[in-house]
Amino acid sequence: MIFETLLFEKKSGYVLIILNRPDKLNALNGQLFNDLADAVKIAAQDSDIRAVIITGSGSKAFAAGADIMELHEQDNTTGAEFSRVGQRVFDAIEHLGKPVVAAVNGFALGGGCELAMACHIRFASTNARFGQPEVNLGILPGYGGTQRLTRLVGTAKSTELILSGMIITADEAVKIGLVNSVHESSELMDFTEKFVQTIVSKAPLAVYAALESIVNSNELSANEGMHFEAKKFGEICGTVDFKEGTKAFLEKRSATFLGK
Ligand code: COA
Repeated sequence: MIFETLLFEKKSGYVLIILNRPDKLNALNGQLFNDLADAVKIAAQDSDIRAVIITGSGSKAFAAGADIMELHEQDNTTGAEFSRVGQRVFDAIEHLGKPVVAAVNGFALGGGCELAMACHIRFASTNARFGQPEVNLGILPGYGGTQRLTRLVGTAKSTELILSGMIITADEAVKIGLVNSVHESSELMDFTEKFVQTIVSKAPLAVYAALESIVNSNELSANEGMHFEAKKFGEICGTVDFKEGTKAFLEKRSATFLGK
């Protein structure tokens, strides 16, 4: 699959989506959002793809935010739609239905941090830097940052970060719960790919159902969330893989999952 601003590399069971504007620190322009929307759609529809990794090309940046050249052109008639374009693509990532892991290999600022937060898990390199520096540009986060950062790290920390525009290190990001773990730059992709290979070795329908329940917990009340979980649990009890997984345990052998 050829994209203007992305590399789409299919591997066994998963796909690597690499943001590919390294000379602009992978800044998110309109073309990149179009490409990302298409790539996400393909990943959702292709049954050979059971997980996605998103990373940035080059050693310096995951993504240094919205493209400031395009941002500068916005006014109060176009701004809301500019924001919604990014929000829609990031919502599609969060609701892709399959695990999406961000391998944050450098700056994840503004829209870059928002993209990482739309992924379900974030691993970072030691040189990664996180922040929502929009206030330095006279704007606020517009691709879900005020919502997802607040959910991930709590209101106090989110307010501190967004109102000050401060940039934090990967270690600080782990401490506040923004990132899952930190790795040497040379080891980040290897670690991330091994993690994803572990996920894709599990029963896919169970993985998708668990993920859907987790993602929905952001939008449902506690009671609705419990009902949703029970409904999914019931559905999965009807799968071939559930019978195989439990039978294999009882027979003291490894399970062979078919995704059925
Ligand atoms: N939009 C458009 N272009 C960007 C960009 C962005 N968000 N971030 C970086 N670039 C471009 C720079 O303009 C520069 O292009 P040029 O070589 O044609 O001049 C190139 O990427 C390299 O960036 P540069 O600033 O020279 O690298 P640096 O190492 O000195 O600084 C950053 C790195 C990330 C600290 C700095 O680029 C920066 O602050 N970027 C903007 C971050 C931001 O505010 N993001 C939120 C946007 S809403």
